[in-house]
Amino acid sequence: MRILVVGGGGREHALCWAISASPLCTKLFCAPGNAGIAQVAECIDVGAEDIPGQVALAQRLKIDFTVIAPDAPLVAGMADAFAAAGIKHFGPSRSAARLEGSKSFTKDLCKRYGIPTAAYERFDDVAKAEAYLKAQKTPIVIKADGLAAGKGVIIAETTDQAIAAARDMLSGNRFGASGSSIVIEEFMQGEEVSFFVLCDGEDVLPLVAAQDHKRAFDDDKGPNTGGMGAYSPVPIFNAALQKRTMDEIVLPTVRGMKELGAPFKGVFYVGLMVDQGKPRLVEYNCRFGDPETQPMMMRLKSDIVPALIACADGGLAHLDLRWSDQAALTVILATKGYPDAYKNGSEIRGLAEAAKVEGVEIFHAGTKADGPRILANGGRVLNVTAMAPTVEEARNRAYRAVDLIDWPEGFCRRDIAWRAVGRKS
Ligand code: AMP
Ligand code: GLY
Repeated sequence: MRILVVGGGGREHALCWAISASPLCTKLFCAPGNAGIAQVAECIDVGAEDIPGQVALAQRLKIDFTVIAPDAPLVAGMADAFAAAGIKHFGPSRSAARLEGSKSFTKDLCKRYGIPTAAYERFDDVAKAEAYLKAQKTPIVIKADGLAAGKGVIIAETTDQAIAAARDMLSGNRFGASGSSIVIEEFMQGEEVSFFVLCDGEDVLPLVAAQDHKRAFDDDKGPNTGGMGAYSPVPIFNAALQKRTMDEIVLPTVRGMKELGAPFKGVFYVGLMVDQGKPRLVEYNCRFGDPETQPMMMRLKSDIVPALIACADGGLAHLDLRWSDQAALTVILATKGYPDAYKNGSEIRGLAEAAKVEGVEIFHAGTKADGPRILANGGRVLNVTAMAPTVEEARNRAYRAVDLIDWPEGFCRRDIAWRAVGRKS
């Protein structure tokens, strides 16, 4: 098969790395890709959100199967455009992608099907939101309804902060149309887990869980980012918790989406808050996680391509995937300044030496080749990923590789997987 992956970050590099190892893949393309992806796929400069451009590209390249990796094109209907062009693809339709694209859609689904999640109310009027907030306890969570590049959630410690955040979002200053409606919800205590489940609209295939690190600096300090590191497996996410999550959260969602006439075909990113062994839904995403996919692909021993195709064609119930029992861990190297302003174009050296560390793969998130030189081209730049029999050893390997990379303009967290180190599942 000729396969096209839409996107150009670390998640897409890990997916391309796994897909390129499949005997089913004769030729792999990625658009737009990056300098690391170019080692395993032919990269073509078409933007990930350019729906007509990606469809035309797939037609021109005679693509048999397209994997739409990022959220924005899915929420905007790229899967529907591929369907209309008769091209097989992985990724949910626009109406199924509302699970990520609209927080209130998901909260209403939870209410209808009794799915455990934080209590909430939806507002599009500032005065009503203010009156409600004055009657609530803090901390409290304010969310823009639509996509906001991972920045549309404010956890307010005081009522004044909460009111300011609600005003800011509803005035349209902060997230434009994505914030024209907001969800105000109860603050949930606990530990966050990202769990992934493939779905063909009818049947499901649970994958594995991972844990992300959203804050920029060590000890979970600093601003929220797209994710500074991840690891898998997650010690607290045992078989009992997985079963409970499937029964109470995922399976009712699959049924609900079918009943709404929007069967979900793709991967559920189930964002969970776990408190005393009880899972509650924080959010759904309609795509693989970034950076969670990087350690997950390291642990995957089976061919991923038949599983992705089954999401489109059906038959997922007859598939099984095998995973390594080892631990995999990803450290993100980001450009200094990220998640705020930063400069592109600094040179990164030492990648070849770093890649030689046992058990290490270096996925590129935001890089650009300039002849033989590799330049930083984004906030999150490299995903140094390592696998080993224990999470401690995986972490040692990853940081050994990080220390061989010569890039003074970059930074990373030094405490990835702190929740797992020294803990047994
Ligand atoms: P989201 O964009 O929904 O993933 O939210 C971003 C982050 O905000 C989540 O990963 C959580 O860390 C946090 N968060 C969101 N909703 C809640 C909640 N109800 N209680 C506690 N933390 C939350
Ligand atoms: N790791 C966070 C995300 O993919 O949204």
